[in-house]
Amino acid sequence: MSKFPTDSYIAPNVILGERVSLGHNVRIYGPAQIGDRTVIGDNVIIGHASSQELARFQEAYWSGQNVTPKDFVSGKTVVGANSIVLSGSVIYSGARIGDDFWCDHHTAVGSNTTIGKDAWLQYGARVYNDIVIGDNVMLAGFVANRCRIGNDVSMLGYLIHKFDRPERGLIEDSPIVMDRATIGMLALVIGRVTIGEGAYVGAGAVVTRDVAPYEKVVGVPARPIKLLQQLRKRSDKSEPGK
Ligand SMILES: CC(C)(COP(=O)(O)OP(=O)(O)OC[C@H]1O[C@@H](n2cnc3c(N)ncnc32)[C@H](O)[C@@H]1OP(=O)(O)O)[C@@H](O)C(=O)NCCC(=O)NCCS
Repeated sequence: MSKFPTDSYIAPNVILGERVSLGHNVRIYGPAQIGDRTVIGDNVIIGHASSQELARFQEAYWSGQNVTPKDFVSGKTVVGANSIVLSGSVIYSGARIGDDFWCDHHTAVGSNTTIGKDAWLQYGARVYNDIVIGDNVMLAGFVANRCRIGNDVSMLGYLIHKFDRPERGLIEDSPIVMDRATIGMLALVIGRVTIGEGAYVGAGAVVTRDVAPYEKVVGVPARPIKLLQQLRKRSDKSEPGK
């Protein structure tokens, strides 16, 4: 049996797994699915209307219809089993998050973003819309629309658009982060840049060009300081006479 306080709202088209626990003033707008044993903290919103859904709501409301934003939510939102979503977090409609998700307080996951299993979102992480993220990631900071992040990535900085034509609604190329890469605290990765497999971007670096696999870069603008051990060993073996 699931149990939840009476000040929470669960839409009729929400499927709650077994032993789901809900805090106070939780809002879950359907269609949505919450996996077994997941714990949702106070003041969490799951299935919040996306910007397109809100625009449709505004149009209808302004034309005199008696509607609320939840009437326009259509994307199915999924939070996997054995997860924890701490207080004040908002997960937008159409987001799909795998099992064993840990989401610290005041974190946002945007609409139609998918996150694999075993993700950890640190306090206040802002992960925007239409992003695809692999398994076993640790994320803080900011991830702009349409970024791609592989498996086993730690991303504690900012993945942002180039914004050379700051027009609202313009579709811009987004950074790509390959498997096992690390991006340090407050680093900025700007534009259509690929951070290679296993690469390391130091804290506070500003990256505007691709970073090669297993390369470590620091500074502003980012410069390589070394190839990481794994790559060195591999290339040593491939050199004749070694
Ligand atoms: C990059 C990092 C991993 C250090 O790597 P390292 O291979 O041990 O590098 P070293 O400490 O040997 O430093 C090599 C050079 O880079 C410089 N350097 C190291 N980190 C730097 C950084 N973040 N920004 C600018 N320069 C940096 C060092 O001063 C040194 O310069 P020098 O050769 O002129 O003396 C580390 O400094 C870093 O930025 N870690 C990320 C921290 C973080 O984000 N933590 C979040 C979790 S709390």
